[in-house]
Formats: sequence, structure tokens, C-alpha cells
Amino acid sequence: MEPLQQEIHLTFGYQVYFTTDVFASENPLFKDVLSRGGTVRPQKLLAVVDRGVLQHHPDLLDRLEAYAAQHRTHLALAAPPVVLAGGEGVKNNPEYVDILHQAIHRAGLCRHSYVVAIGGGAVIDAAGFAAATAHRGVRLLRVPTTVMAQADASVGVKNSVNAFGQKNFLGTFAPPYAVINDSRFLTTLSSRDWISGVAEAVKVAVIKDAAFFGFLELHAAALAGRDLALMQQVIRRCAALHLEHIATGGDPFESGSSRPLDFGHWAAHRLEHLSGYALRHGEAVAIGVALDSTYACLAGLLPVFDWRRLLDTLMHLGFRLYVPELHDPRLIPQGLDEFREHLGGRLTITLPLNLGRSLEVHEMDLALINQSISLLCRQAAKTPRG
Ligand SMILES: NC(=O)c1ccc[n+]([C@@H]2O[C@H](COP(=O)([O-])OP(=O)(O)OC[C@H]3O[C@@H](n4cnc5c(N)ncnc54)[C@H](O)[C@@H]3O)[C@@H](O)[C@H]2O)c1
Ligand SMILES: [Zn+2]
Repeated sequence: MEPLQQEIHLTFGYQVYFTTDVFASENPLFKDVLSRGGTVRPQKLLAVVDRGVLQHHPDLLDRLEAYAAQHRTHLALAAPPVVLAGGEGVKNNPEYVDILHQAIHRAGLCRHSYVVAIGGGAVIDAAGFAAATAHRGVRLLRVPTTVMAQADASVGVKNSVNAFGQKNFLGTFAPPYAVINDSRFLTTLSSRDWISGVAEAVKVAVIKDAAFFGFLELHAAALAGRDLALMQQVIRRCAALHLEHIATGGDPFESGSSRPLDFGHWAAHRLEHLSGYALRHGEAVAIGVALDSTYACLAGLLPVFDWRRLLDTLMHLGFRLYVPELHDPRLIPQGLDEFREHLGGRLTITLPLNLGRSLEVHEMDLALINQSISLLCRQAAKTPRG
């Protein structure tokens, strides 16, 4: 008997907005974005807020409440906001996802209601996972508050939490309803969280956009010195490159084995875990990018001159490119194995060919990885910060 044949063609669309002070009474963006979601008034939302953000913006909940009251015909808080500890702990402890599911249930959210996640990449990832799995998908409006989250973590179609000692083991592909990047939040970031997201910008520039790499190289010191206008440009370009890849790369839900945006991530994810999450994701990505670029250079793929520019740029931004976990025997085989499993299919590692271009390899030479680690270690010993 012939099989029944089915094809489903879907189009997803969402906006990434840029604004300053999203909950200011005179800023209509948040209300307008929610109002576009349908004719039911008011639109119901549950806010999930990163406690680290609240510590630096103590009036945030009052301002959200005042904004909702001012626009009560358009939107309504379905329940008091859920405040979660910020940072990777929220992805490591399954209780938080449970807390979020319970809150969504108690608030009576339907599939046309909104979870509004306000926080760093970790809170956004966990809230996104809870929203995507409650009722098989409640709308998610992301309001990212770190450079990492605005430039990368919040603009894509993935969410996740960690499990079984593995990064992002549980998660779904679920495009957000919308993303609102508010530059006001960036002013209160610690120096680590200010710069760590720029590692993703370097990552994507190295494999896709030589001009953007030049921009990062030129402005590395100013970015490290907290130039907000420059950082906003970096965030916008980095977000655009990620979005463009998702939209036009031919594999938005990552069914294949290739994942260029995960350049440098096989080591990064493992280093985060081996450091007990003392390393920020971006800090680990900077090291992972340095490691795979060093490997590419030693393998004769990346010219020495480009390799030097890349490492110098990362160092001028303030990244350490060597940590003792690089010498942990559990790094290499497990890191590569987990990466392959998470991708599915063949091991596929993206390596830079020169600045702005990359190629994929399906095997990594362990001796050459170790040689690359030794080189990064020797270099760190020579430079005060390296
Ligand atoms: N889903 C994806 O596609 C994707 C992509 C990249 C990264 N990620 C994930 O993002 C996470 C990292 O995100 P991150 O770098 O934003 O770190 P984070 O979420 O761990 O936040 C770092 C710290 O900054 C605090 N914070 C957040 N906003 C603040 C603000 N405005 N002012 C002061 N403090 C603030 C938080 O409370 C936390 O303590 C990782 O779990 C990573 O796996 C996901
Ligand atoms: Zn990343």
C-alpha cells in the first residue's frame, strides 16, 4: 500500500525591536507590540524577571505595574511577576522550570497570552523553555537585559535548560512572539557581563563578516571601556547576522549536522561545565573561538596574520584565552562527543579559513588540539592578561 504523503510549509516571522526605557510611561512600544497579537483586550501577560536585573533596577516591578495600569485597555498582568535568581543556576536546577509551569498554570495563561521574560540569557532560556512547553506553546516576548542576550541568546529560535551535566540538554525550537532590546538595561551590567556577549560578535564576524571583524578590532578598547553607542552597533549587527543565518541558512531548526553559529562552542560548553559555571558563556566562547582558531592556524587553514589579529582583538576586549580547565583530561573527548550528539549525525566542526570565511571538518586531530592548548597556555604566561 502507498504511504500517505504529507508536507507542511510554515512561515515564521517576528520582530527584534530596539528601544530605550521600554517601561517609560511615554514609550508606546511594549503596548503596541502586545496589541498586534490579536483583538482580545486586554492581552494577558505573566512577567518573569531576573533577580540580578531587579537588584540594579529596583523600581522595575513598580514601573511595569504602572505601565500596565496606564495601558489597562491593552494589557493586563495575569499574576504578580515571577522573580528568578539570575545566572546559569536557573538552567541547572529543574525546580525553576517547575516553578514557571506552576505560575503559568495558576495565572490561567492561554496560548494567546504572553510570558514576558526580562533578564539575561539564562533566565530567558529557562522562561522560554517553560513557555514553549506549557499548553505546547504560550507566546514568548523576550526583553533581554545583557549584551549576550540582546546580541545572540534572545534573537534566535532556541530555548533550553541544562540536564545530566550537559548544557542545553532539554529544550525546544520555538520562535519568539517578539524581542525588545532595551539599551537602558546595559548601563548596569557588571564589567564581565558587559563584555562577555561580544565574544559571540567576534565568533560570527570571524566566520561570516570580515568588515564587522574589522570594526570589532578597531573599537576593541572603546568597547572594553563601556562605549554604549558602539555596543549598540555591535549588538544590532551581531543580532542581524544571527537572524540572517537562521532565516537563510536553510536549516532553522537544525535538522542537519552543520551549525556554523556554534563555532568555538564544542570546547565552550564543556569549559562552562568543567568550571562549575564560574565561566560565563561568553567568556567560554572567547576561549573556544581562540582554541579552534589556533587549531585552524596550526592545521594550515587560517593564515598566521589573521590568527594573530583575532587573538589580539579578543585580548584587547579583555578576554582571558587560557584557563586551567583546558588541560582537564575530560575536556576533549567528552566535549567533542557531546557536541556531536547534540548536533546529531556526523561530528561537524566549523573552522575559520580566513577572517570572514569558514569551512567544516568532520574530524579533529587530538594531538593538534593539545598543541593548540599548549600554545594558548604559553601565550597566557607571556601576557599579563591572555
Ligand atoms: N538560546 C540561545 O540560542 C542562546 C544563545 C547564546 C547563549 N545562550 C545562553 O545564554 C546564557 C548566558 O546568558 P548571559 O551571558 O546573559 O548570562 P546570564 O543570564 O547568566 O546573566 C549573567 C548575570 O547578569 C545579571 N544581569 C542580567 N541583566 C542585568 C542587568 N541589566 N544589569 C545587571 N545585571 C544583570 C544576571 O542576574 C546574572 O547574574 C547561557 O546559558 C547560554 O547558554 C542561549
Ligand atoms: Zn553561544
